[in-house]
Amino acid sequence: MLRKIAISAISALAITSGAAMAAGGGGHIEDVAFSFEGPFGKFEKNQLQRGLQVFTEVCAACHGLKYVAIRTLSDEGGPQLPEDQVRAYAKNFSVVDKDTGEEREAVPSDHFPPNTGAGAPDLSLMAKARAGFHGPYGTGLSQLFNGIGGPEYIHAILTGYTGETKEEAGETYYENHAFPGGWIKMPPPLADDQVTYIDGHTATVDAMSEDVSAFLMWTAEPKLMARKQMGFVAVLFLIGLSTLLYLTNKRLWAGIKGKKLV
Ligand code: HEC
Repeated sequence: MLRKIAISAISALAITSGAAMAAGGGGHIEDVAFSFEGPFGKFEKNQLQRGLQVFTEVCAACHGLKYVAIRTLSDEGGPQLPEDQVRAYAKNFSVVDKDTGEEREAVPSDHFPPNTGAGAPDLSLMAKARAGFHGPYGTGLSQLFNGIGGPEYIHAILTGYTGETKEEAGETYYENHAFPGGWIKMPPPLADDQVTYIDGHTATVDAMSEDVSAFLMWTAEPKLMARKQMGFVAVLFLIGLSTLLYLTNKRLWAGIKGKKLV
């Protein structure tokens, strides 16, 4: 009996995971082993700082980050820039003052400005708005532990250019393996050594893409680490509670269960 159940469970799993592979649909997305994946995953401060540098020097030319307050760059669990550096960093941007309606230098309490000039989408929530691994297929456990692949998707877009271009209705499209449909309007934004990292890390396209994807995961979910920690505490608590309830139950019924009834 048990064997039969096990066999049917295994074949059901095999069928659904086969379907998951067949249902890929979009572009080609490779898994990336990010530090923040898994139940104990954490953002790496240095990687977030490098990602911020790539965003500032490259992506900010076309993309906004309008849901992110500049002051959060010094938050625990984030890039953790010292506050004086955040103040200096804010000066890179100018914002329209809500009260006076005039343009002025940004301060840490401002958000990153929106940027719609190039027709590029805002990147604040992009890492949660896109999925690399589409679900729900299979057991869903991989997605539970590794996420749905938003940062992998961004990494795949940035590294997925083939070099081919085409003109259509006066617009240039760039061939990209990862973008659904295969052609994207964003010109390849990165080239090797485009950014000179402050921490001396090598700046290949692959490394810069990983760093900026990690940074964009942080902008989309800055409380990821706190949430995981809370989840861990909750699981510990539930294990404790279950043990106590089990023991209580056993004790309550001990008198009756031990006896042979006539
Ligand atoms: C020259 C301007 C420009 C630069 C620089 C640029 N982008 Fe884009 N980006 C665009 C445009 C335009 C689109 C919209 C493309 C489309 O819909 O075909 C886009 C789209 C995207 C998308 C969304 C793809 C989707 O699924 O809709 C992501 C992610 C992205 N860019 C990330 C980045 C990152 C990260 C950087 C910095 C490394 C960057 N971009 C630099 C212009 C730019």
